[in-house]
Amino acid sequence: DEGISAFVLTDDDVRKMLPIRTLKGHKGTHGKGILVAGSKGMSGAAVLAGRGALRSGIGLLQIVTPQGIAQEVDTAITEATIWSAPGDDFLNEEAWSVILKQSEKAQAFAVGPGLGQNLEFTLVLGDILSSLSCPVVLDADALNQLAIEPDLLGLRNGQGPLILTPHPGEMARLCECSVEDVESNRLDLAVAKAVEWEAVVVLKGSVTIIASPDGRAFFNPTGNPGLGTGGTGDVLTGSILAWLAQGVAPLEAACLGVYLHGKSADLLAGEYGWSGFTASEVADKLPKVRRELE
Ligand code: APR
Ligand code: MG
Repeated sequence: DEGISAFVLTDDDVRKMLPIRTLKGHKGTHGKGILVAGSKGMSGAAVLAGRGALRSGIGLLQIVTPQGIAQEVDTAITEATIWSAPGDDFLNEEAWSVILKQSEKAQAFAVGPGLGQNLEFTLVLGDILSSLSCPVVLDADALNQLAIEPDLLGLRNGQGPLILTPHPGEMARLCECSVEDVESNRLDLAVAKAVEWEAVVVLKGSVTIIASPDGRAFFNPTGNPGLGTGGTGDVLTGSILAWLAQGVAPLEAACLGVYLHGKSADLLAGEYGWSGFTASEVADKLPKVRRELE
């Protein structure tokens, strides 16, 4: 492990990463983020990521989702603006024009939760990576698309910050290795890939590792097995989007998102133990754990 400096995140580290709110702050200064998420049967992923963003203090949240589920998402998440993009079940190639139109005033993007496996979206992902200069978070199906078309990563080419949030299965696909290979080599692999891809790599798991393209890595001590339930990863993606939108730098936004997400689960575990709380509840406890940290 020569050259790898790894740190365990603490309350003190993370407190310093929190954005400062001023008395005159408004939704404009609290940042606008765009979430590209959802497909037929997976509108919940868009809703949960949206909830993670709103509970992390985003000023304005816009969700780009296929028109076939736009109504559902709109009803489930009152506070977000919904942009229904071409595509009945999945977003198709033409989604890019909608995303581009929305991109002007946004400070950050998150792409992937519940998008589904759809090859047409690969082209859109290419446009996103090569055209958007603000930070972009890629999760879930966006990572699966990247695994199919690894050349897409090259399109980013210093265009702007990139944050990838794979679970071990997604990491294995991206690295063309087995999940066992990922799990037995987590730190080295996360750091090597962060350097290679010039991206912040959030390798999720019972101890999530946040690896920086400069070769540093951070271990997250918060969280518990109660997080092993559908949708908690989506909440994390939304939360990181919100910290980015509020002006937190990419590495710090990832650390802040992961740490508070785990803390929120730990608060719930105090009441329920290590099972039976839900992803929405994890999102809903985020403001409370953030406040305790301040
Ligand atoms: N201890 C601490 N944290 C944990 C533990 C544990 N034992 N188990 C899971 N977690 C955390 C992970 O670190 C991560 O933050 O829970 C979250 C799970 O995220 P994901 O694996 O992305 O799970 P999920 O949100 O359910 O994913 C939904 O994403 O990857 C796609 O296809 C997948 O449809 C699925 C969707
Ligand atoms: Mg996930």
